[in-house]
Amino acid sequence: MQQIENKIILVTGGAGFIGSNLCEHLLQYNNKVVCLDNFATGKTSNIQHLLANPNFTLIVGDIRNLSDCHKAAQGVDYILHQAALGSVPRSIVDPITSNEVNISGFLNMLVAARDAKVKKMVYAASSSTYGDSENLPKVEEIIGKPLSPYAITKYVNELYADIFQHTYGLNTIGLRYFNVFGRKQDPDGAYAAVIPKFVMQLMKHESPVINGDGNYSRDFTYIDNVIQMNVRALLAENEEAMNTVYNTAFGDRTTLNDLMASLKMYLAEYDPKIGAIETVYGPNRVGDIPHSLASIEKAKSLLGYNPEFSMQQGLKEAVAWYWENLR
Ligand SMILES: NC(=O)c1ccc[n+]([C@@H]2O[C@H](COP(=O)([O-])OP(=O)(O)OC[C@H]3O[C@@H](n4cnc5c(N)ncnc54)[C@H](O)[C@@H]3O)[C@@H](O)[C@H]2O)c1
Repeated sequence: MQQIENKIILVTGGAGFIGSNLCEHLLQYNNKVVCLDNFATGKTSNIQHLLANPNFTLIVGDIRNLSDCHKAAQGVDYILHQAALGSVPRSIVDPITSNEVNISGFLNMLVAARDAKVKKMVYAASSSTYGDSENLPKVEEIIGKPLSPYAITKYVNELYADIFQHTYGLNTIGLRYFNVFGRKQDPDGAYAAVIPKFVMQLMKHESPVINGDGNYSRDFTYIDNVIQMNVRALLAENEEAMNTVYNTAFGDRTTLNDLMASLKMYLAEYDPKIGAIETVYGPNRVGDIPHSLASIEKAKSLLGYNPEFSMQQGLKEAVAWYWENLR
């Protein structure tokens, strides 16, 4: 696959799960990478190994602060905007901070991108934008009503990006991520994503709790497919592919019960006792949509996207990483 090479790229949220994987990938292809992060949820350990690289610059700063955004965007060719406060439950507990970071911070980044005349800003959108739409698979053009403050923030990002294209000619591409997982995803804290949370609990021989009856399903997407989408979005040049949004997923769905069974199976290869751990079931969570499955046809046809990792292949890799690094 063609790679992006010899460019200067700002990765906001570069100390986070997806951002740090993007920084690492871009540095392999002789790009200069600027990482802007305030470490709200990001970790130094995600980028520690990059700090000595002369092509890597860390700016500790906040996207809510316009001058930090201007400083970070100065002289860069492209921006991969990942910084945000993730998690639907977090946004329900504290909608104001999610709004400030995810909407005002996003707007600051658009302004900084415009003022620095960057070639393109590719940003992390979200499958939560599909809201209460029951349409399956999800196609980019059909969305429902948002079900959480987080979903609103991510939808507003898309609206602002569109306006910046029309008003200032700034090129943007939004990637609606669907339940991304893989190495470096944080297993800790109240707002941890299910896969790392379950893996850590199983490794400690604790019973994981599934919200609901386990029949809710998700299009779990391995990090390397997400990296591929970001690279393809950066490379996209024709007008039809630009200034729009793409589902970023594998294009298959797995129930939480099947996910749990797979995790136990892969972890049992390292520790056979894990295979016998019982799962506990709790109430459904507010704001959760029952099913999520992406159509990836648009990304295939306009960006040439070709996801290399199925959920099962990704799970094996992710489990191996957690076993080696966080056990
Ligand atoms: N992981 C997923 O499944 C998923 C799904 C849909 C969308 N997304 C989006 O992808 C992006 C990356 O998510 P992630 O899973 O890597 O989360 P993450 O929490 O690991 O990374 C987010 C990063 O942004 C940084 N950040 C937060 N607030 C900031 C601020 N005010 N200023 C500067 N930096 C700030 C954090 O410190 C962190 O390093 C986010 O925009 C998220 O909403 C993720």
